[in-house]
Amino acid sequence: MAGYSPLVREHFEHPRNAGVLDDPDGIGERSNPVCGDRMTVMIRVADGRVTEVRWQTRGCPAAIATSSFASELVRGWTLAQVRELTREAIAEAMGGLPRDKVHCSVLAADALKAAVADFERRQAAGS
Ligand code: FES
Repeated sequence: MAGYSPLVREHFEHPRNAGVLDDPDGIGERSNPVCGDRMTVMIRVADGRVTEVRWQTRGCPAAIATSSFASELVRGWTLAQVRELTREAIAEAMGGLPRDKVHCSVLAADALKAAVADFERRQAAGS
């Protein structure tokens, strides 16, 4: 864990919100084509805001830590705010990531945005 900020280490050692959400309102999945790491995120939405997040990530320590951190970060956010989330914002808020690990935070950012898109697709389909 050399080179990782205390917050990254803390989230890797004690991940928050890991697991499965029963009957989620949206599901997003992303994988990193280079390393093969994969994240699935499930969200619950109420009144246009994310109220609950669960995730399952198979990946490196940075991917696990950013999944955990992002799941706490976006709780209470509007869907529009989640759509604007960037991997840089996650990495910066966590006190930075080693340069060769910044790409790992893309899983959390993109999977969350995919979950919001899935929610909106379901809404448009009337489910
Ligand atoms: Fe694969 Fe970090 S090395 S996401």
